[in-house]
Amino acid sequence: MVQAAKVSADRVLRVGVVGVGVMGSNHARVLSELPGVTLVGIADPDRQPREFVAGVLGCAAVADLDELLALGVDAVTIAAPTHLHHPIALACIARGIHVLVEKPVASTAEEGHEIVNAAAKAGVTLMIGHVERFNPAVQTIKEAIRGEDILSIAITRVGPFPPRMSNVGVVIDLAVHDIDLIRWFTGSDIVEVQPQLSSAVAEREDIALLQFRTASGVLAHINTNWLTPFKARNVTIATRGKYIMGDLLTRQVTECFGFQSDGSYSMRHLSVGHAEPLRAELVAFLSAIRSGEKPAVSGEEGVASLEIAIQCLQPKTPQTTFTPAGIKAAPAAPVAPRKGPRRVAG
Ligand SMILES: NC(=O)c1ccc[n+]([C@@H]2O[C@H](COP(=O)([O-])OP(=O)(O)OC[C@H]3O[C@@H](n4cnc5c(N)ncnc54)[C@H](O)[C@@H]3O)[C@@H](O)[C@H]2O)c1
Repeated sequence: MVQAAKVSADRVLRVGVVGVGVMGSNHARVLSELPGVTLVGIADPDRQPREFVAGVLGCAAVADLDELLALGVDAVTIAAPTHLHHPIALACIARGIHVLVEKPVASTAEEGHEIVNAAAKAGVTLMIGHVERFNPAVQTIKEAIRGEDILSIAITRVGPFPPRMSNVGVVIDLAVHDIDLIRWFTGSDIVEVQPQLSSAVAEREDIALLQFRTASGVLAHINTNWLTPFKARNVTIATRGKYIMGDLLTRQVTECFGFQSDGSYSMRHLSVGHAEPLRAELVAFLSAIRSGEKPAVSGEEGVASLEIAIQCLQPKTPQTTFTPAGIKAAPAAPVAPRKGPRRVAG
């Protein structure tokens, strides 16, 4: 593996953004405001967003990746639709350009591994945009559980349908954030997956209740859907010594501690920072480019979370039952057939 080449701390980095839809336009805005960086240009085949973003931020607007690379860039952030991450990342890496790839890293684990291997071989920095790790509430929770014996984690990430449906369901679109958080909070791999999925309205799954066990023995649960009229993002973590509750939207984190035998305990609100998560993520990416060190969210971590998300979508294997005669696989229990996805009203 080649070590990522360092860029001297005083050199201004020339950066571009590939795809300026919902996420990429935010990447471009933040990059245009960061010191030590020039937002050279943005690439998007759709003229309307590209001209709008370039007009506001005062950078070049081009229709495709080759034109962007021709402007001369050290690094790009890739916020094109997920199925394009693989070809775009490989084309950049082949030119020695550092890449931040939005989550999920790719559409398949194989594509993700190819991106990781190509970046390692080329010695470029590859970081994955698991921006939730940079949410100040998440960072406070991570600090609160430091040195604690974690027992269980429950995460809720629900809301209404996104305005523009992509070709993925809630597991790849939303739960992958929390799979990454579970792996990061526990510092352990997920070794067991028990998914329950349903497609109530959309063609793909729009409700997912996912249960996991990590190699370190932590039980974790993700409740995610697109059927809730308001957004909610909550994390609760039980450790032997504490119970921590975090609201990732209001950024309130509270911990219960000092459990007494009479059932009493203490409670306190923890202090939470104000930084914009995307800004912190991009600063971490640029700093990894400058130092040549492993980035805050590595390609390997992005692929590991994608692999677990994909595992949640695999058809179930028959349940194992324990009988006096030994262990045998039970026939799959009958499941009432769904009447097919309901149409969205309106
Ligand atoms: N980290 C997060 O919280 C978060 C949130 C939303 C989306 N995302 C990820 O960001 C990516 C983009 O999602 P979005 O919601 O911004 O989608 P979007 O549809 O709003 O934007 C995608 C943009 O890419 C452009 N595009 C299409 N083909 C292209 C190409 N060949 N080259 C350059 N641009 C191209 C489209 O024209 C569009 O403007 C996805 O991978 C998604 O999973 C991450």
